[in-house]
Order: sequence, then structure tokens, then C-alpha cells
Amino acid sequence: GRAAAVAPAPARPGHGVKPAVDGPGLAALTAWVDQVAALTKPDRIHWVDGSAAENDALLREMVDEGKLIKLNPEWRPGSYLARSHPGDVARLESRTYIASEREEDAGPTNNWIAPAEIRATLDGVFDGSMRGRTMYVVPFSMGAVGGPLSHIGVQITDSAYAVASIGVMTRVGTAVTEQIAQGAPWVKTVHSVGAPLAPGQADVEWPCNDEKYIVHFPDTLEVWSFGSGYGGNAILAKKCFALRIASVIGRDEGWLAEHMLLIRVIDPKGKAYHVAAAFPSACGKTNLAMLRPTIPGWRVETLGDDITWIRPGDDGRLWAINPEAGFFGVAPGTGESTNVTAIETLWGNTIFTNVALRPDGDVWWEGLTDEAPPHLIDWEGKPWTPASGRPAAHPNSRFTVGAAQCPQIAEDWEAPEGVPLDVILFGGRRATNVPLVLEATDWSHGVFLGSTVSSEKTAAQEGTVGELRRDPFAMLPFCGYNMGDYFGHWLKVGQKLRFDRAPRIFQVNWFRKGDDGRFLWPGFGDNARVIDWIIRRVDGQVDAVDSPIGRLPRTEDLDLTGLDLPAADLEELFAIDRESWLAEADLTEEFYDTFGSHLPAALRAELASLRYRLQRP
Ligand code: GTP
Ligand code: MN
Ligand code: MN
Repeated sequence: GRAAAVAPAPARPGHGVKPAVDGPGLAALTAWVDQVAALTKPDRIHWVDGSAAENDALLREMVDEGKLIKLNPEWRPGSYLARSHPGDVARLESRTYIASEREEDAGPTNNWIAPAEIRATLDGVFDGSMRGRTMYVVPFSMGAVGGPLSHIGVQITDSAYAVASIGVMTRVGTAVTEQIAQGAPWVKTVHSVGAPLAPGQADVEWPCNDEKYIVHFPDTLEVWSFGSGYGGNAILAKKCFALRIASVIGRDEGWLAEHMLLIRVIDPKGKAYHVAAAFPSACGKTNLAMLRPTIPGWRVETLGDDITWIRPGDDGRLWAINPEAGFFGVAPGTGESTNVTAIETLWGNTIFTNVALRPDGDVWWEGLTDEAPPHLIDWEGKPWTPASGRPAAHPNSRFTVGAAQCPQIAEDWEAPEGVPLDVILFGGRRATNVPLVLEATDWSHGVFLGSTVSSEKTAAQEGTVGELRRDPFAMLPFCGYNMGDYFGHWLKVGQKLRFDRAPRIFQVNWFRKGDDGRFLWPGFGDNARVIDWIIRRVDGQVDAVDSPIGRLPRTEDLDLTGLDLPAADLEELFAIDRESWLAEADLTEEFYDTFGSHLPAALRAELASLRYRLQRP
């Protein structure tokens, strides 16, 4: 995801090489860079131009410094392994803040902090935090540079690992700086690992700080992140910008920034449909994004695996882009049998983080192969054997790879105008209650389904539900404003659509379990059987059966050819226990109550209708 570079201008002392662009917007950018440098006091400033040569030099430098291990090019050309500090392995929701002026605007699902208070804290921790290090200035575009749905930003960071990752995940380079110079609006993001170096002090493999802050200022569209070098805490373009800040911009401008995969499904007649799906983290977005259908005639093209920006068009449809340029996917569980497309994508040019190292200089993680190699170096750099009794790769170990490497990426995946949406899916990990698939009766019922997305750890007894972890729209950790207002925004966006052109909304659940605790549905490539029904439904080829919770397939309409699915399991996959659903409705009411007056009346009405239908004989 690298944009074309422009020849650099000569360096100004102490300020690295500034890009050779000019325009009315440049002064604000350089003033901000100078201001952040005055606070963080780096030794050097490096304006990133996004060139391949620059990227190569960065990676080589990290290898020399012991921050990356170059993998054996025979097995994994152009690829590297990073090992994080054991205390810096995931997004940190407890240290993630929404610093809106009004507490109410952050809502009950976010950590709110007063902007003035946290600014004082940040001024303290960032003061001199880049001493002894290079401060990189990274201009990036989410979506094709200059596209109608795209947005640009700049990340300042003292982590070369972050620079390399942003280079894969976004479109980085001087073309973006040119846009800023021309006066395009941009978002400011600042990141420091919080590990200044005294003169002569040796660096460590993964610098970070015990104290961590990931702070969003929705009123001024800024992100400040301190202390962590990992994933979403450090690649600020991703969750911080493309979801939390973008959701706020979308609220104000009338569009949606969503935690969704995006695919094109092509039916046996060659007709294409576009599907976006919101599943919580670790619930199968990357898997479905790279689906290889097990039923003949169907094809899936990948457009995105994590974030989708959606905007109503003048034609009454919703248009969607994947704003990212790469995949930052969970490694464990990714194997030939679960996601062969991902395996093929990872042939080279990949940065792996916290996976295990093989003696031959390749990588391994749980689920890559059925059997573990006899000897490995685990993600903490310690010798490992299958008898070690601990995972060799960290459960949240990741791969970072350009989307263009995906063998089934859609040819037009970077099209600036995006694709028109036909279907929106909501799903969570539900052991009980939620059927394999159901269709919403209309947009507002669909928004209701999105607002009730949740996951259940264990299968519950009949007539009850397990403990529900709510994750409405899969956006609980990523909505930058009051989630009740966000529900309302979804309802409002629906009103802008032509009723016959709005995407149809479905709920899916690959994770329903039998009494014996095993998954009832084979999942993965066989999820194409569910997509097949959904597409034929959208195309008007099949009827559905009304149930109290939504429209269900007639079992004879599901293509189950060649599938070894016992009749009892099929029945259980669609079973609706009214008692259990009434209990779940009570839990939904409790959840809704936390939003107070911010909860849209239409959703209360949906809940009331659900209860009415459940109690009707
Ligand atoms: P983030 O990238 O963190 O947002 O998560 P994600 O939604 O992309 O999750 P991912 O695709 O990495 O989910 C992986 C987990 O879901 C693994 O444990 C998979 O085995 C499991 N999984 C994915 N699809 C299926 C399925 O159809 N059935 C079952 N049983 N498990 C699935
Ligand atoms: Mn995600
Ligand atoms: Mn994913």
C-alpha cells in the first residue's frame, strides 16, 4: 500500500528531509510537527516518503538493532518476525479513552476522561519521551488517495515497527502530503512507545512503557497513544482513526465507519452481490472475508477483512470501501483446513508478531499444521517442544500483509467509489438461542439485531442463556461516541435509502452448540451454504418462514448436498425456545437501560414487538 513518492527537498538542520511539496495547507502540518517535536524532543525527524527503498532501509535497520528477525527467504521471502514485550501483546481497552468535552458524548460503553485532565497527563508523559530516538512523520490515506470516501491523516511515531506496519496497512507517502499541502482536512495522531534513551543507552528488542494511554479527542479529531508498540495501540490509522475517530466524522457527515469485512459473492450464473459483515473480534471476519465455498459454482472475492466505510449514495444505495491496504490478522487457528486463502496470502512480504520460530528460519503457530514441529523457539524467545505445556505462539499473535497478495482479492478492491452493498450480516459467538441464519423484517429490525450482537462463553442449560458479552454491531470497543446515539445514527442512515435498494440485513451464528458442547455447524467453507440461501433470498428465489425472532429458511431451501449433518443437529440449529428468548429479551432491556434517553424509541419498540411475538400462542 505505498503511494508514489516525490523527490525529497534538501534537509533543514534538525528536521530531516521534508517532502518537496508546497501549498497553503503545509504550514499547519509543519507547525504541528515542530510542536510535537518540541514536546517529545527526538534526536532526529524523518519524514516518511513511502518509497520501497525507505521501507527496505527501515527493515534492515531493525534487523541490525535486533528488533526484527529476518525469516529464511527460502521459505518466507521478504518476511520478518517481531517479538513484543510480554506485557504488550494486545489492544488495551482499560487504557483506551474517549476524551470528549461532554461525558455524555462518550456514553456508557466508553472510558471517558475530561480533555483538560488527560491533556495535562499526556503533556507530562510525552515530555522528552522520544529522546535518543527518531521521530517519524507518516502521512497516510485510508482509502485510495483522493477518493470520495477516503480520509487522510498523519501519524507521528518513534517506533520503526509502527512505520513499517502502517506502510502495509495504509497508503503511505508524499502523495498524501501533497493533498495536505493542497488544503485537504487531515487527522492528527501521535504515538510514542514511551522509552526515551539516555546518551549511550542500549535499546531493547521491544521498547514500551508500563504506563499506557490510548486517548481519542473526538471534538478536535486527534489521537494520542503512549506506552504500547502493539497493533491497534500503535497503528493509529486502524482502530483509533478508521473506527473511533471515523465513526464520529461519519455521525457528523451522515455515513458509517464499521468493524466489518467486505466481500463480493458471485453466484453460479455469474451475478455479483456485495456483503458486509460485523462479527466481534476473533469471531471469524478474516475467515469469511477469504471464504472458499464448498458448494460448486460459487465464488468469493475479498475486498476487506476488518473495517468498512459505508456511505449512502445519490442512487439510494449504500456504497462501501475497505479503507485499509492490508490485513492484520490473528495467526493461531489459521491453517490449510480453516483458511487456505490466508495461508497462500502469507507466502512472503509479511511481518509476523509473536508467532513461534522454526529451526529452519520459518514461522509456526497453533493450527498452522495439525502436528506441531518437535522443536521451536516460542513467542518469548524460549526453547519450546510439544511437551512444554504452553502455546508456542501467543494467542493474539498476528500477521501483517498487503491485501494485494491475497489470491482472491477483487481486481477492483481499491476502486475509490467502492461497491454497492446488497447484504449486511451481524453475528457473534452464540452457543444457544441464535439460529444459524435469520433475516430481519426491515431496516429497523436489522438495527435491533445489530444492537443485540453478543457472545456467550459456554453453552447454557435449556431454557436459559449463558453469560452474554454484549458487543453491539461488533463496535463496543471501537465506537468513538455514545453508542445509543450510534444506534440512532444507523436508523437515520436507513431513512436515506430507497426501500427497494437498501441492503437486506441478516443475523448469522456459526457457533451454536449441542448439549454435548460441540459445534452443530461445520462452519468455514461450508458457510457458503448460508450465503447461498441469503443471496437466493435477496434475489427473490426462495420464501422464508416467519418466526417470533425473524424470517427463517425453509430447510428444503438450504443446499446441504454432500454435508454430513444429522437431522437432529439441523433442527437444533434453528430451534427457538420461547422461554429462553423471553429471558434474553429481559437481558436486552437491562442493556438498553444503560443508554437512558440516548436509546432510540424505535429500538424499544422492536423489543416490545419481539416480546409480543414470543408470547403470542
Ligand atoms: P479480528 O481480526 O480480531 O477483528 O477478528 P476476526 O473477526 O477477523 O476473527 P478471525 O477470523 O481471526 O477469527 C478466528 C477465530 O474464529 C478462530 O478461532 C477460528 O477458528 C474461528 N472461526 C472462524 N470461522 C469459523 C466458523 O465458521 N466456525 C467455527 N466454529 N469457528 C470459526
Ligand atoms: Mn478487528
Ligand atoms: Mn481479522
